[in-house]
Formats: sequence, structure tokens, C-alpha cells
Amino acid sequence: MRGSLLVDHIGELVTNDGRDGDPLGVRRDAALLIEDGQVAWVGPARDAPAADRRVDAGGAAVLPGFVDSHAHLVFAGDRAAEFAARMAGEPYTGGGIRTTVGATRAASDDDLRATVGRLRAEMLRQGTTTVEIKSGYGLNVADEARSLRIAAEFTEDTTFLGAHVVPAEYADRPDDYVGMVCGPMLAAAAPHARWIDVFCERGAFDADHARAILACGQAAGLGVRLHANQLGPGPGVRLGVEMGAASVDHCTHLTDADIDALAGSETVATLLPGAEFSTRSPYPDARRLLDAGVTVALATDCNPGSSYTSSMPFCVALAVREMRMTPAEAVWAATAGGAAALRRTDVGRLTPGARADLIILDAPSHLHLAYRPGVPLIRQVLHNGVPR
Ligand code: NIG
Ligand code: FE
Repeated sequence: MRGSLLVDHIGELVTNDGRDGDPLGVRRDAALLIEDGQVAWVGPARDAPAADRRVDAGGAAVLPGFVDSHAHLVFAGDRAAEFAARMAGEPYTGGGIRTTVGATRAASDDDLRATVGRLRAEMLRQGTTTVEIKSGYGLNVADEARSLRIAAEFTEDTTFLGAHVVPAEYADRPDDYVGMVCGPMLAAAAPHARWIDVFCERGAFDADHARAILACGQAAGLGVRLHANQLGPGPGVRLGVEMGAASVDHCTHLTDADIDALAGSETVATLLPGAEFSTRSPYPDARRLLDAGVTVALATDCNPGSSYTSSMPFCVALAVREMRMTPAEAVWAATAGGAAALRRTDVGRLTPGARADLIILDAPSHLHLAYRPGVPLIRQVLHNGVPR
């Protein structure tokens, strides 16, 4: 949209500019000017410049749009029955991934596109203005490539997860599958992907396979991220740090050595409390990571198996209640933390030059996101400066 837009009468503005030692960079009684889809000015409401149009925030809180840095949106079918079985005591093993692979392979492009579009719209309504989308339910050359092609219609942050699990047809020859992932599958996927990811876990890929796949992806120009230490302790987190991953995700089972490795690195720990909620598992200890100086992000992990939520506000509330994060830490992790996990400097903050992605809450403060769980507090979302 052309021309300038002033968001005025903001009671509490979260900028994430880190000013005065406050990571959220909160300003009271503020205004924010948008020009050409970017933040052009931030300051006290009384100094607000003139603009072509104006949105009155009515004294409410305004924060950066959420950055959901981990989502598996390209799939078909659901696994509600698997969820019900878990709630009746069955454990989560990741075994259901193959069920979704079967349904995804059988779906048309239009069906997959419609699912991604529906979930993307659901996310936007809940304040998510940037989302990463993974493949990982195709697990053959054609279906991984089309998953990424469809994902790229919705986001710049597409991730090749051909190494999600070994598909049934390769069950007795995993080395051959790894060779295929690094060869023809990567060649077909890389033009549509920014990142490469591996599920490094017992029952999925071990450290040697994961290292080989990530190295091929890096050589093809993709950035590294990793599913690690979700179901038990293991080598994934340290492997991610060793390979310069932008983020290691889940981090549910960590040793002191894992935390030390993260603390001395540029790698973000992305926590996905929707997965622990939906698999009835113990939550990761965010406090331990934060106290060690690790950068923490929060994301939904939206997928039909382990976490079928698209709601960042829900994840913020879980992080505060169950993972010992303060509301301010959780809001930072869901915005600036997600941007760090995607190595993005244009989103996750409301400072001049940033993309004008912002949320006007139906509440006076960011605290209400955790304080009023389950309540639809997203009054209005602006994406690229355009009201949605
Ligand atoms: O992040 N852990 C591996 N992948 C997904 C789960 C996928 C599924 O169960 O379909 C996750 O939890
Ligand atoms: Fe995941």
C-alpha cells in the first residue's frame, strides 16, 4: 500500500531494540510511522509526524508480528486418532510420520496448497507474520520437490527435510536412502529451499548420517538447522553447534555439555512446547538455557502428528507456565528469537528499517498473552504495513 500510515495512541510498544538493558525495548505512549511497508519512525505519540492515514491503537499494546521459525505445513490428512491414543497412554515415537507420508504422496498439488494456505491464514489471524515451512512428508524426489515448491509460494524460509525418517521402502537400507537424499533429492529440492534440516534422533537419523546430509546441504548453499534431543539425550545439539547451525530445535533432553556448547555458539535453541503438550512429555527447561546465556526461540512445530497448533500465543503461555520463562522472555523468544533462528534482521523487531509486521493486542500489555491463555487477544495484524 502506498503512502504513509501512522499507528497512534500505543499504550505499550514492544520494539525489541534492547534499549536501556530492556530486551523488549518497551516504550509507553508511543506512535509508529510506516512508509513503503517498513517502519520509518518510532517515538513518543506527542511527537508523531503527519501521515496519509492513521490507525488508532486505543491505548493497547503493539508488538512485532510473531516469527514462527519451525512448522511442517505441507501434508495431507490428520492423526487425531493417534493423538487420542496418546492421551489414553500410548507414547509418541515419531512412527506416525510414515502415515502422513502416505497421505501426502496421494494428495494433489491443489490439496496440499489448500492446507498450507488454510494454516498460513490461521497463523496470520493469530499474529504470525513470518513462518518457516519444511518439507518432510514426501520422502521421495518428486514429493519432496513439490512440497518445497508449494511451501515457497507462502514463505522465503523453506526447509528441505528429506531426512525426516527413512521411508518404508528403504527401511532395510538406510545408507541407500541417505545417498539418495544427498544426491537426486537434494538436487531437486535445493532450488526451492533456503535451509536443510535432519531429524537426528534414535529411530530417525544417527549423528553420522545427519552430519553427512547436512554437509551435502551446506555444499549446495543451504543453511543448517536440526531437530535434536526431542525424545531423548543424544548427539544432535552438539552436532548442530559443530556445523554452525542457525538453530537446533526441540532441545527437550539436554546435558550440561549440550548447554555449554550452545552457550559458546551462535546457534539458537528453538523450543517447541506444543510438541510436549501434544505428546504429554516433560517440557524443556528454558530457564537453564537462558541462565547459561543461550539465545532461545519459541515456535509452534505445527504438524499433524506431534503438535497440531498454529498458535504462537498458546506457545508463549506454555513457555511461561511450564518452562520457567518470564512473559517478557517468552514474547522476545517468539519474535526476535524466531528471527535470530532464521538469521533474519528485517523481522522480529519494530525499529526503523524493519518490515512493518505488527500486532495490535486487545490488551494493555504483552503480559496478557500469558496471563490470559486461550483468549483471542490479537485485535489487528499489519503485514508489510498492510492491515489484514
Ligand atoms: O518436530 N520430530 C520430528 N518431526 C516432527 C513430528 C512429525 C510428526 O509426528 O509428524 C516434530 O515433532
Ligand atoms: Fe518439527
